[in-house]
Amino acid sequence: MKKLTIGILTNAKNTKLVNTIEAHGHEAKIFNPEKMYMYISEYERGYDRLYFGIDGDAPERITAKSIDIIINRVGKNTEFATDVLKFMVENLGIYCPNKPDSLLKASNKAKTLQILSSAKIPVPRTIVCQKPAHVKWLVETIGELPIVIKKTTGSQGDTVGIVDTKVSANSMCEFIYNSGINAVVEEYIEAESKDYRVWVVGDKTPVAMRRTAKKGDWKSNISKGGTGERVYLNEADKEICIKAAHSLGLNICGVDMLKSKKTGRSVIIEINSNPGTRIIDICNYNVWNDVIKFCEDNYKKGNQKNEIEKNPVENLSTSKEPDIEKNKADGEVDWETINNLPHNIECDKWC
Ligand SMILES: Nc1ncnc2c1ncn2[C@@H]1O[C@H](COP(=O)(O)OP(=O)(O)OP(=O)(O)O)[C@@H](O)[C@H]1O
Ligand SMILES: [Mg+2]
Repeated sequence: MKKLTIGILTNAKNTKLVNTIEAHGHEAKIFNPEKMYMYISEYERGYDRLYFGIDGDAPERITAKSIDIIINRVGKNTEFATDVLKFMVENLGIYCPNKPDSLLKASNKAKTLQILSSAKIPVPRTIVCQKPAHVKWLVETIGELPIVIKKTTGSQGDTVGIVDTKVSANSMCEFIYNSGINAVVEEYIEAESKDYRVWVVGDKTPVAMRRTAKKGDWKSNISKGGTGERVYLNEADKEICIKAAHSLGLNICGVDMLKSKKTGRSVIIEINSNPGTRIIDICNYNVWNDVIKFCEDNYKKGNQKNEIEKNPVENLSTSKEPDIEKNKADGEVDWETINNLPHNIECDKWC
């Protein structure tokens, strides 16, 4: 296998992924989307470019040739990161195992459920709303109390609540009505406070864990004190998870599944395009090996060639490319390189 350069689009360190990439004999490069510049050319044939700048150093140009594969590990600021990933895939033709738009879809629980339902994948009975004024109707349409209320975007169980009395249903709906958030109101699936986190890699589910909420809680997120254990899924559950992932355009993701105690059915509650990696230690299984193997096997077959043909950006040698470095006006005062700025300077301080 030829040595590949594998980029990771991320705002974190991703040590386990970097180590696995290197253990496979490849090179890992970290790109924080917040430090990228997308240069969009005015030239009709296109000379789009991507630059990456670390602190005060001059931004470095990222060419299509310099990265073979890009893996998304974006946990925040998803909208901009999706734009960067789209640019890398569609404008530069770099292979990514996940479709860039799927990051945005997966980051929104309402959008995810809508797509899953249209793909005929079992999901909890759900109402998505902004101004829930009809509380009785809402609860009766979902079925009965308790119901689960979630913000459409959110993670680690932080914006997920359970409503189990009429009084709390009234006040929760009033809160949503007045706060202007979009809410997902779901049927509560009685599953003994357990759920399943299933990693999908291509058309396989290499590892899955059952998570159990800590005593007295109902949310099974590990970050909320839940515990995990490795489980082996039956074929039907594997199939649901793989179909769910693919319906969103994801080859690599973590699918969250509940198994209803009442009906015995498996339902999908959400899909994580940037799943946590605690599963690796809990299950003693390094799923990054599967991910790298999938990338090795698929990157040539990916959209690289087609996208380049569709968007001829990097491979046009005949037209004259403007040299923006030499384009400075005579006598222009040089800009100072902005060094030593605090790392997380807020944008409004610049204005
Ligand atoms: N409809 C439901 N019925 C019963 N339990 C639920 C339901 N929805 C969520 N839960 C419980 O709450 C937990 C958190 O919900 P969910 O996975 O939807 O959001 P999240 O944890 O904030 O997202 P992420 O997994 O991206 O961090 C689940 O792991 C599960 O234990
Ligand atoms: Mg979850």
